[in-house]
Amino acid sequence: MSSRAIIIAIDGPAGAGKSTIASRLAKRLGFLYIDTGAMYRAVGLWAMRTNTALDDMHRLEKLAVESDIVLSGGGTTVLLNGEDISGLIRTQELSDAASKVSAVPGVRRALVEKQREMGKRESVVMEGRDIGTNVFPNAQVKIYLDASAAVRAARRVKDLAAKGESAVPDVVEREIRERDERDSTRSEAPLRQAPDAEFIDTSGLTLEQVEEAILKFYRARTSN
Ligand code: DC
Repeated sequence: MSSRAIIIAIDGPAGAGKSTIASRLAKRLGFLYIDTGAMYRAVGLWAMRTNTALDDMHRLEKLAVESDIVLSGGGTTVLLNGEDISGLIRTQELSDAASKVSAVPGVRRALVEKQREMGKRESVVMEGRDIGTNVFPNAQVKIYLDASAAVRAARRVKDLAAKGESAVPDVVEREIRERDERDSTRSEAPLRQAPDAEFIDTSGLTLEQVEEAILKFYRARTSN
């Protein structure tokens, strides 16, 4: 890492508001925004397309190692082996597949290596589940975002509605809880708050309030 490159690590469960806040923050600070969940989703998509079983650790690792994943357009565009897959990876099916492939140690090793490479070149806001604990344990700024499961489910329902899809809140909440359970209990780099991360419960906060809280913490951490 160049001595002036700054890493802002944002972790937390699904629907805590990480993507929205991380991309806003990156724009505001002129940093690169990296959505690591999109990388696990890309491997999940490739696995589904190649009929790779989601418990075939060896083949999944091979896919992750061989995948060429490029995040561009301020983090909004995801390219897998040159193909724009941005519109294909935000489905419930891919959320589930990504969570499953992300539990495979070899997949994590391959993607974490790519993520560390991305953070070497310039200042980044990187969001995921293990950024502050595993990918960049020395990140200067670590944030752990959370919200109640009901609030997170309501946000997901709203996102889906914006895309013209309807969903039952209780079902979405159950799926979110199942995914969190799997992401937090896997043996390899489970979702966990780093001891030096700032905890923010976004349940009752506006986007602006969350952004201000993070910027305050960022300034305090980087001022000397
Ligand atoms: O943030 P997301 O919902 O797009 O992530 C999809 C899945 O990928 C999530 O269920 C867990 C996994 N993931 C991970 O294990 N580590 C990361 N750094 C990012 C995502």
